Amino acid sequence: MPKVIAIAGKGGVGKTTIGGMLVRYIVEEMKKGPVLAVDADPNSNLNELLGIKVKETIGRVRETMKKDVPTGMTKDIWFEYKVNEAVIEGTGFDLLVMGRPEGPGCYCAANSLAKQSIDSLKENYTYVVVDNEAGMEHMSRLVTQNVGILYVVSDPTPRGLLTAGRIMELIKELNLNIHKTYTVVNRIREEEIGVLRQIGKQKGIEIIGTIRNDEMLVKNDRDGESIFILDRDSLALTDAYSIFKRTMD
Ligand SMILES: Nc1ncnc2c1ncn2[C@@H]1O[C@H](COP(=O)(O)OP(=O)(O)OP(=O)(O)O)[C@@H](O)[C@H]1O
Ligand SMILES: [Mg+2]
Repeated sequence: MPKVIAIAGKGGVGKTTIGGMLVRYIVEEMKKGPVLAVDADPNSNLNELLGIKVKETIGRVRETMKKDVPTGMTKDIWFEYKVNEAVIEGTGFDLLVMGRPEGPGCYCAANSLAKQSIDSLKENYTYVVVDNEAGMEHMSRLVTQNVGILYVVSDPTPRGLLTAGRIMELIKELNLNIHKTYTVVNRIREEEIGVLRQIGKQKGIEIIGTIRNDEMLVKNDRDGESIFILDRDSLALTDAYSIFKRTMD
């Protein structure tokens, strides 16, 4: 059984960046691959951060199921074959892109086949890292069940922290099977740390760690570079690795 790690949080807080840093951490620091990175955001860009081109998505496979299954082949075998084909190989990790969510029409059969195929695919990996879209829709969907660790990312503002707190509440209400949940505050500046920890304390939100705002990361992103070439001593990687070290056992 792989350990599934998911990243959630509102739009633009740094979910994909943290997901990318986590993939690099598992591959380079823990050396405990293979990792399956799952891009579960329809506006996917995890692939860019990992330096990989997307060829196929689960959304597309699902849409072609109605017309493309050859006669004599069962749909589940076809689906499994297609899902395996959609896996893109990186160095030390693979990437699966979920793509667009359901359009009009019923995709129930295709969805349950997708779930089956992804579940059996996951068994080939030690870790599965899921980058979610903003909002909570995915939390109750296929790829985010039986989660070992959920990192809820917040921006460095009091309001952002309250939103992260609400996400935590919602997760409790949804009764999802999540083993551990941690709140991470991203893009923080030194002078903000004290105030945010205080607010966290008042609201009962424990901040497991903070990641500093990092100009090197901004430049890396602007240049469209992979997270794998970001300087190992950059502020963001240093802080993120320290959080992973404490939480990933
Ligand atoms: N610690 C950091 N320091 C500097 N820039 C950062 C940091 N973390 C993230 N960023 C930048 O913030 C922007 C948003 O990050 P990212 O795309 O990871 O957020 P997201 O939560 O995945 O967004 P979305 O909800 O749109 O998927 C990116 O340009 C990224 O490079
Ligand atoms: Mg993202």
